[in-house]
Amino acid sequence: MAEARREHFGGRLAIIMAMAGSAIGLGNIWRFPYLAGEHGGAAFIFVYIIASIFLSMPIFLAEAIIGRRSHANTYGAMEKLAPGTKWKWLSILTILAPLIIVSYYSVVGGWSIEYLVKSLAFSFNSTPKEEITSMFAGFISQPWMPIVCHTAFLGTCAVILTAGVKSGIEKFSNWSVPILFVLILIILVYSLTLPGAMEGVEYMIKPDFSKIDSEVILAAMGQSFYSLSLGVGTILVYSSYVSKNENLLVSGFGTAIFDLMFALMAGFAVMTAVFSAGVKPGAGPGLIFESLPFVFATMAESAPVVSGVISILFFVTILVSALTSGVSLMEVGVAYLVEEKKMRRGVATFTVFAGTWTLGCLCSLSFGPMNEFRIFGNSLFEFCDWISSNFLMAIGAMLFSLFVGWKMKKSDVYDEFTNGGTLRFNVRCFKAVYFLVRYIAPLVIGIIFLSGLLL
Ligand code: TRP
Repeated sequence: MAEARREHFGGRLAIIMAMAGSAIGLGNIWRFPYLAGEHGGAAFIFVYIIASIFLSMPIFLAEAIIGRRSHANTYGAMEKLAPGTKWKWLSILTILAPLIIVSYYSVVGGWSIEYLVKSLAFSFNSTPKEEITSMFAGFISQPWMPIVCHTAFLGTCAVILTAGVKSGIEKFSNWSVPILFVLILIILVYSLTLPGAMEGVEYMIKPDFSKIDSEVILAAMGQSFYSLSLGVGTILVYSSYVSKNENLLVSGFGTAIFDLMFALMAGFAVMTAVFSAGVKPGAGPGLIFESLPFVFATMAESAPVVSGVISILFFVTILVSALTSGVSLMEVGVAYLVEEKKMRRGVATFTVFAGTWTLGCLCSLSFGPMNEFRIFGNSLFEFCDWISSNFLMAIGAMLFSLFVGWKMKKSDVYDEFTNGGTLRFNVRCFKAVYFLVRYIAPLVIGIIFLSGLLL
């Protein structure tokens, strides 16, 4: 049986580290600060936290329950738990979606390699400030360099994956996640001491509730799913490597807390720096690549060495966090090919690499030579981000919660969530969690999704 060959994570901490490694990534450092900046700061964060508790946590648990119950990849899980039904289609969605995400994700990962190299060369200190923001547009529109960086990023993920679950994913996350926290803490402490930093803090903690509209809710919900890696089978596959005696609620809660803490720390670090340099918070996706180098250049006027060191630390943090997430996105496809198509792990990894590399190159070129090619008015990069984050993830999240809430037997869900009734706290929470998974999550996602489509 394939079951006998399956690897398991080494223990509770290893599980949380691996899941946190998947969760913590560009979503926290790149996406969260710019979305918060575009959608009114504290008001967005408020909705984000509510959505994380009442929607994302239950969906996380639903995915984890499917994964651990089946101990299989997304396709195998559906075949085991709902043999011969149409639920198989869900697995196809969940194999394709993470591969689409990782294709453009690795392009951004590649940008962070380039920016790390730039900060190692202390280029933000030597470039005139006016040229810093245009430097980014100039870089991403080139045909070759961004593709070289994208290849380096994706290649590194592939090397980690080839090593396997325990000696690749687990080992890498075990040392990288704690380091990430130390790095972001250093950056945060430094940015809080910048002149004018308090304005940034205020922007992040004083909510203006009148700013909350359906667009803010949609963005905050989407970000909460994105950040916790929900809806496309990543958590399902990682949970399939969790052994039967672990507590899923603890893993889920631990991951969510780490992820939230990291997003808030990164958000404060970026916003205080941005406000301190007098840059606008609503700069969009270019926020950390355009505005932050500008901030580093401003800091360099008075403290060039400190600014140089902080910029290096910052881009190392982005790169390492993106790698652990890239690995988790690719693992969904790798697990499928290994278990269902009986490929060797190395071959499976290479196959996933080849496919995502090709799509990623096209995404990268869509900032330059292929910019004319539009899908519904979007460049290929924008289209991949849009279709995966706003569409596929929401559908996936809804279907996972419907599967656990309506398709699986309640007694099986109970059994998995409470380890056969042995976890007293989980037994007490079961009713509430089941209610959220069965009714609230699919309903709320459905309503918000439809209103987003219709608006
Ligand atoms: N959560 C990661 C981040 O914040 C990205 C990620 C990993 C992801 N796996 C995912 C996003 C699955 C969506 C779905 O950067």
